[in-house]
Amino acid sequence: MENPFSLDGKTILVTGASSGIGRQTAISCSRAGARVVLLGRDETRLQQTLAAINSPDLHLVYAVDLLDYDVVGKMLKEAVSQVGSLHGLVNAAGISTTLPLKLLSPEKMDHFFRTNVHSAIQLTKLFIKHAAQNNDGASVIFLSSVMGMVGEMGKTIYSLTKGALIAGARSLALELATRNVRVNTISPGVVVTPMSQSAVYSQDEESLNRVKSLHPLGLGKPEDVANACIFLLSDAARWVTGTNLVVDGGYTAR
Ligand SMILES: NC(=O)c1ccc[n+]([C@@H]2O[C@H](COP(=O)([O-])OP(=O)(O)OC[C@H]3O[C@@H](n4cnc5c(N)ncnc54)[C@H](OP(=O)(O)O)[C@@H]3O)[C@@H](O)[C@H]2O)c1
Repeated sequence: MENPFSLDGKTILVTGASSGIGRQTAISCSRAGARVVLLGRDETRLQQTLAAINSPDLHLVYAVDLLDYDVVGKMLKEAVSQVGSLHGLVNAAGISTTLPLKLLSPEKMDHFFRTNVHSAIQLTKLFIKHAAQNNDGASVIFLSSVMGMVGEMGKTIYSLTKGALIAGARSLALELATRNVRVNTISPGVVVTPMSQSAVYSQDEESLNRVKSLHPLGLGKPEDVANACIFLLSDAARWVTGTNLVVDGGYTAR
């Protein structure tokens, strides 16, 4: 019997593939049968991801800053010329911070929106135009966060960007349904990655224990989010669009 969760025959573009959740998503997608196109800025860490992937020769790696829209456009065209159409896009690249209101400058806000929102929307636009040209449709995922759904002290700027992704993905899902492109967000709680390890709460044991205690199932692993991505990318989710899949160890259950 065919496995509906298999990614056999699919090609998936993953941003943030040089670290954390994006890296694990790329590795897990390859194990589920996909060919992957890896995007990140740090060439060395991208190559480390590639080294952990099945059949490294099959996959493509591009070191690119997602804010360089011209370079990203050229990269995507080049990738499509090599792999043909693409079936999935995981927008995992992102940045986080903890800042009180008095430190929220317009420049900071702009940088966060450009990195977490604009670059992902721009890449999705290019993906739809150049890449998702196949009869099987496609799946687009945005990595949001529980901070896009509930609040936390000092998380205003991050929450604004993550909430924007949840809201925007719903409208995009409606707009792209006729083209058989599904659009969803995933909202993780705290996952152990370089991002969370460099967060303010990870710098002292008391704060880290407080954050841990807010997750009834403990902190997440990158695999927990990668598996959710595999589901949404696979044919098992063929009727799932415009939704926000919460993967948070129970953080938002209370
Ligand atoms: N970890 C968590 O607890 C958690 C919880 C909820 C949601 N999330 C979300 O999940 C996603 C992945 O987080 P993570 O924990 O895996 O973070 P991470 O380990 O810090 O990795 C972030 C990735 O984003 C890439 N990136 C950032 N800015 C970029 C840019 N301008 N152009 C290209 N790539 C860029 C980085 O590339 P380089 O390293 O190559 O520069 C890196 O690969 C993020 O969107 C984050 O907001 C994380």
